[in-house]
Amino acid sequence: MKMSEIIKIRGLNFGYDEEVILKDVNLDIRNGDFVALVGPNGSGKSTFLKLLTEQISFQQGEIKLFGQNINEFSDWTKLGYISQEVKEFNDSFPATVKEVIGANLYKEFGRFKLLNLRLDQKINRVLELVDMLEHKERQIGNLSGGQQQRIFIARALVSEPKVIFLDEPLVGVDIENQNKFYKLLNRLNQELELTILIISHNIEAVIQYANRVFHFAKQKITPLSASQVVESSLC
Ligand SMILES: Nc1ncnc2c1ncn2[C@@H]1O[C@H](COP(=O)(O)OP(=O)(O)O)[C@@H](O)[C@H]1O
Ligand SMILES: [Mg+2]
Repeated sequence: MKMSEIIKIRGLNFGYDEEVILKDVNLDIRNGDFVALVGPNGSGKSTFLKLLTEQISFQQGEIKLFGQNINEFSDWTKLGYISQEVKEFNDSFPATVKEVIGANLYKEFGRFKLLNLRLDQKINRVLELVDMLEHKERQIGNLSGGQQQRIFIARALVSEPKVIFLDEPLVGVDIENQNKFYKLLNRLNQELELTILIISHNIEAVIQYANRVFHFAKQKITPLSASQVVESSLC
């Protein structure tokens, strides 16, 4: 295996009961890729990310993560996932920014009740990365939608993953904040060499930063060049 290949998919077939969703998918994702996943509703984008995070299992083919078959893979801290379902904390959610991020380190620290310097340093580091350090002590529910998105990213980053999957993270976020968010992802991609897979309907924004675009349609995943994306305005 080339070390730079972090996801390798061969002959992948997946369907829910009667409905075939993906047929004979073959693709590789390399370390440092910024991948946009685009395509119409119902084309299988969320399903694809669920397959890659082993929330569902496929019928045929092979998925390798970091060189290992997915069913043997165990180092899930290398992957961060932000699902389509989690969107916002409401006003009365009883936790601060610091607590929400720290909760994602529970496995590492919880058993030993090490609410210590190291935990705090990790939280500060990710808040700095997303430019939210000054909001550390605030109630999460009082932040704007765009700010909460940054906190979701910080929470995903705190376990120091190599790759993050984002399923339509910007629904309900205004255009200005969407652009800021893409710039942030771009920075994380460049500075941390974080590999990013993002499902997005904002094609114009995402193709500014993505080095690869995969289009989902008719049970296939097709790589597109930038000019093809613009031409077809697919989503
Ligand atoms: N848990 C499920 N059980 C059965 N069918 C599902 C399930 N989740 C999604 N589907 C169906 O699979 C297809 C692809 O869904 P999805 O991956 O959510 O598409 P996308 O994210 O591209 O909008 C849709 O037709 C959807 O209704
Ligand atoms: Mg979806």
